[in-house]
Amino acid sequence: MRNIAVFASGNGSNFQAIIDVIQMGELDANISLLVCDRPGVYAIERAKKSGIPSFVFNPKEYSSKEDYEKDITTELKSLGVEFVVLAGYMRLIGPTLLNEYEGKIVNIHPSLLPDFPGKDAIGQALRSGVKVSGVTIHFVDAGMDTGPIIVQERVRIEDNETIESLQKKIHAVEHKLYPSILQMLLVQGDVLYGNKARTY
Ligand code: GAR
Repeated sequence: MRNIAVFASGNGSNFQAIIDVIQMGELDANISLLVCDRPGVYAIERAKKSGIPSFVFNPKEYSSKEDYEKDITTELKSLGVEFVVLAGYMRLIGPTLLNEYEGKIVNIHPSLLPDFPGKDAIGQALRSGVKVSGVTIHFVDAGMDTGPIIVQERVRIEDNETIESLQKKIHAVEHKLYPSILQMLLVQGDVLYGNKARTY
């Protein structure tokens, strides 16, 4: 069974969806650690309730990204973490973590990338007037939401759509799609990373 770490910065509903499918026996993985960059957010409570250890840090208490990523990497290595799942982690991954886990970090983003990268993707989509947005799951590279795409699912935007209603529809897609893609990556094995076939 693969040891994974989930990184989250907020509510953690995607983290919860992953916990739930593991508990239901539908994803053969073990969440060894929650990594969280915002003390006090609800994702930390979710970890506690499920008995998952957390590494919670305040980036302002470190002099550089390299410093806190070194601490994170030490934690991940000591727990034998093989794969990193970003679930609402609102920070760029730096070279320290990327060098250790290149090709083994995935992210979920609430738009059809390359459209609407970065923060507030749902608000960006609504304000732009597009009629379709969606969800992207992709490998992480050094850019902002730029790594190789694994899967995308569309979500229709209705005329009377609000941020809240669109967020609800996007979350519903995310909570199903992320666990199933993790199962594909971690358990079934072969995927394409960039142009290279790779076995996980
Ligand atoms: C999710 O919608 C995720 O796609 C988004 O943050 C939300 C976290 O929700 N991620 C990004 O915008 C990354 N650029 P959650 O904390 O309830 O899982």
